[in-house]
Amino acid sequence: MGRMEKKVVLITGGGSGLGYAAAIQVAREGAKLSLVDLDAEGLENSKQQIESEIPNADIITIEADVSDEEATKNYVNKTMEHFGRIDGFFNNAGVEGKQNLTEDYGSDEFRKVVGINLDGVFYGMKYVLEVMKKQGSGSIVNTASVGGIRGVGNQSGYAASKHGVVGLTRNSAVEYGEYNISIKAIAPGAIMTSMVEGSLKQMAGDDWEKAGEEFVKDNPMKRFGKPEEVGNLVSFLLSDEATFINGAVIPIDGGQSYKY
Ligand SMILES: NC(=O)c1ccc[n+]([C@@H]2O[C@H](COP(=O)([O-])OP(=O)(O)OC[C@H]3O[C@@H](n4cnc5c(N)ncnc54)[C@H](O)[C@@H]3O)[C@@H](O)[C@H]2O)c1
Repeated sequence: MGRMEKKVVLITGGGSGLGYAAAIQVAREGAKLSLVDLDAEGLENSKQQIESEIPNADIITIEADVSDEEATKNYVNKTMEHFGRIDGFFNNAGVEGKQNLTEDYGSDEFRKVVGINLDGVFYGMKYVLEVMKKQGSGSIVNTASVGGIRGVGNQSGYAASKHGVVGLTRNSAVEYGEYNISIKAIAPGAIMTSMVEGSLKQMAGDDWEKAGEEFVKDNPMKRFGKPEEVGNLVSFLLSDEATFINGAVIPIDGGQSYKY
C-alpha cells in the first residue's frame, strides 16, 4: 500500500512544472488528485500524462485563477463535492513577473505578481484550513522560493510575495498545529521548469541556454534542480511521515542559499 493511499491531494499550478511533478509523485504513491490551474491545456496534459503511467489514477481538474477569492472558494468546494475531504494541499501556483530595478518595476506588475503569489496562497489556505480544521487533520505545503528567504535582485514583486508566503506559513502553522494540521513552505532554488526557462530568456534572449550554464556555476552542485526532486520532497511533506514538521521553510536549492 502506497504512503499516500486514500489521501486526497489538492494542487494549484498542477498544469506544469513543480505542480505536475508533485502530482505524479503523490499519484504514484496512491493519492487521489484535484488539480487546479489557469491553463486548461496544461491541466489536460498533466491528467493524461499521469493516467498514462497510472491508469487507475483518480483525478479531477479545475480551471481557476488563484488570485480570485471566489474562484478559490469554488475550487475548494468542487474538490469537496467530488472527494469529500482534503488531506494534502500543495499551494503552489505562481509567476515570476518581469525583471526590473525597483524604480522601473511598475506598480501594476507589482500588484499582479503579489496578487497571484501572495493573495492566492492566502485565499487557498483560508478555505482549505476551514475544511482541514473540521476534518481534524491535514497538511499544507506552500511554495515560497530562495527569493523568499534571500534578496535576489530585479524581482520586487516576486521577493515581496515569496517573503510573504514564508510569513503566512509561520503564522498559520502557529495557529493550526493544535488542530493536527501541519503547514510548511518549500524554498526552491533554480529548478528547470518553464518558469526558469522564461527567466533566462528575459535575461539573455536567444542565448538563454548559455546563460543557464553560467548561472549554475554559482551553485555548489553546479546544476539546476529537477522538478522530480521537488515532487519527492512535497510528497514526503504531505505524507504522515512529516506530521511534526510545522512552520518550517525548507530550502531545496543544492545548497545555494547557504553560500557566502
Ligand atoms: N522553477 C523554479 O526554479 C522555482 C524556484 C522557486 C520557486 N518556484 C515557485 O514554484 C511554483 C511553481 O513554478 P514552476 O517553476 O512550476 O513554474 P511553471 O510556470 O512551470 O508552473 C506554474 C503554473 O502555475 C499556473 N498559474 C500561474 N498563474 C496562475 C493563476 N493566477 N491561477 C492559477 N494557476 C496559475 C501556470 O499556468 C503554471 O501551470 C511557483 O510558485 C514559483 O514561484 C519555482
